[in-house]
Amino acid sequence: MTDCSTQSRARLLQQKVLQAPPLTGLKENQTKGKTSVEFTGADWLQDKTRRRRTSSPAMFAEKLGKQLGHPTRSVAGWLVSKLLTVRNRALEESVVQISGIQPEDTVLELGHGPGLGLQSAAKLLTAPTGHLIGLDYSAYMHQMASELMKELVTSGKVTLHHCDVAAMPLVDSTVDRVFHCNCYYFWPDLKKGATEIHRVMKPGGLMVTGMKLSSVAAFAAKRVMPGENWRPDAYMTALSDSGFTDVRMEDKQHTHITFQAIYATASK
Ligand SMILES: C[S@@+](CC[C@H](N)C(=O)[O-])C[C@H]1O[C@@H](n2cnc3c(N)ncnc32)[C@H](O)[C@@H]1O
Repeated sequence: MTDCSTQSRARLLQQKVLQAPPLTGLKENQTKGKTSVEFTGADWLQDKTRRRRTSSPAMFAEKLGKQLGHPTRSVAGWLVSKLLTVRNRALEESVVQISGIQPEDTVLELGHGPGLGLQSAAKLLTAPTGHLIGLDYSAYMHQMASELMKELVTSGKVTLHHCDVAAMPLVDSTVDRVFHCNCYYFWPDLKKGATEIHRVMKPGGLMVTGMKLSSVAAFAAKRVMPGENWRPDAYMTALSDSGFTDVRMEDKQHTHITFQAIYATASK
């Protein structure tokens, strides 16, 4: 039996613990009306280490780069998908407009992300033979775009592939136009990607790549982009080495945005 003063001291102590701001490393448990406080030191140390690691600007840049290059179904991936939707809508729409898409064309978008460029290109393919193909190796982006384009996928007007640019499940010489925005920077082997694009394109087909070079260079300076493949020269060299001709970069002013476009013709 405990005396009154011991009981009230214990109650006072318990109240103090409960009223105190939450202490890191201490966990409060409530079972059947009883309160106990448990030390979770190991978790706390791990959390502290994790916080220190992810809070450095270099780690943040690396994490952002990974999500931009391959968005995953996660909080970070969801945020990146929102960023792409808000920031790149005008670029995607403009690149579609300058790609010279004809109503009866077979058109391919690489690394479509959330799917805004696909939506825009589909509107131009009004002939019955007009066909749109999209591909992305992020399962999350593939699902997001599939949802956005659901009706056109069902009708057969649009086909979406979950695959790598370097290994496309497409027949040789079947595509009239290829377009992509903010995608090649993440390819580990530009020549492999360019060769594969050349393979699927019809002779004389046009490829257009859109980017806001100043933003890309700013991201690269912060090491968001892996390596040096983001440089337009690197990609243009890979295109020329893969059989493309008339490879050039132009400054573009379309609707209300300024951007850069790389053009290349698939000579065969
Ligand atoms: C920065 S996001 C750009 C998305 C969209 N085009 C835009 O500009 O908003 C790059 C996209 O390309 C995809 N991607 C990157 N490398 C790829 C590859 N080798 N094959 C297929 N998709 C790739 C990523 O999964 C991601 O959805």
